[in-house]
Amino acid sequence: MSYPFEIFDQSSSVINEGKVGWRCPSNIAIVKYWGKHGRQLPKNASLSFTLTNAHTDTYISYSENNKGRLSLSFLFEGKPNNAFEEKIKKFLESVTAFYPVLNRLNLEISSSNSFPHSSGIASSASAMAAIAMCICEIDQNTSGNENSEIDLKKASYLARLGSGSASRSVIPLLGAWGVHDKIINSSDLFAVDIDEVHDVFKTFHDDILIVSAAEKSVSSTAGHALMDGNVYSEARYQQANDRITQLKEILQAGDIDSFGKLAEDEAMTLHALMMCSDPSYVLLEPGTLDMIKEIRAFRQRTGTPIYFTLDAGPNIHLLYPDHVSAAAEKFVNQTLLPFTANGRVIKDKVGNGPQKLV
Ligand code: PMV
Repeated sequence: MSYPFEIFDQSSSVINEGKVGWRCPSNIAIVKYWGKHGRQLPKNASLSFTLTNAHTDTYISYSENNKGRLSLSFLFEGKPNNAFEEKIKKFLESVTAFYPVLNRLNLEISSSNSFPHSSGIASSASAMAAIAMCICEIDQNTSGNENSEIDLKKASYLARLGSGSASRSVIPLLGAWGVHDKIINSSDLFAVDIDEVHDVFKTFHDDILIVSAAEKSVSSTAGHALMDGNVYSEARYQQANDRITQLKEILQAGDIDSFGKLAEDEAMTLHALMMCSDPSYVLLEPGTLDMIKEIRAFRQRTGTPIYFTLDAGPNIHLLYPDHVSAAAEKFVNQTLLPFTANGRVIKDKVGNGPQKLV
């Protein structure tokens, strides 16, 4: 598959130094991406809420270097971090074919998260999305296109190469990634937004209840790879695409109950796939299951539309529309907090995507 965007040729122009900065949020998938092939291509379409409060801020100062190859330094929360620096360097070196200007630049990157590192929140989506927005802006600035808006498809393409789910973090409100016949302009190469979404879904909350902040015993990369040998994989990819068709209608109709059922079914499916991988593994913790039981019992008892989803980890994402936020807060404080690690909750909401910082 070839690169679908124009590549600027800066071979002769002089590069002026400059600074860019972007804030990008994390996202929570309702229909999950689990299984990939080729160069970060999804086995099925996925659809997520873009969040607000769990975000990464990244600033990049750039100047011309005469080395003929990219050079960079990286500070995470004000301090050098070799592991992150290596990861970012490898990623940027892998995309110089699309961004040849990178080979002529010295980049000073500094990055910080709004949520504590190792809080159990995956930071790769927000981090890679923020870097992608910065690189796209540098590419524009160094090719005389300072004033044009960033092409979000291009930023999403680049973010995807850093982390698949990051492709959706540059899209405001709801992002869909992966070819699907019910999603206009959908692509395996970048995420797009969803048209015709009922307003109630733009008010959704996501309270992230931290059960454990420990590093995952099996990484997402390893988890995706295990889908190749999973006997249920083909049925799963079909199911995910069918669920996108259902979700698309649900989002349009504003059908909160069907949304909640689908979100919970997807969360359980994701973890069931992990449990029946070979080797099998479990990322759920006792506290996760306790909370799931409490959420379902509360809903049955009170009729309040409060649902959960899960990422590839033990933490509960509590999903509910704004009009029940008072009841949700009471329920969280009285019933769910005892199952969290030291009462840790990150209160988040559906949000508007990337924000320019400088
Ligand atoms: O972007 P990755 O490679 O870390 O994969 C993330 C996969 C899930 O978070 C479990 C699901 C999703 O679609 O975000």
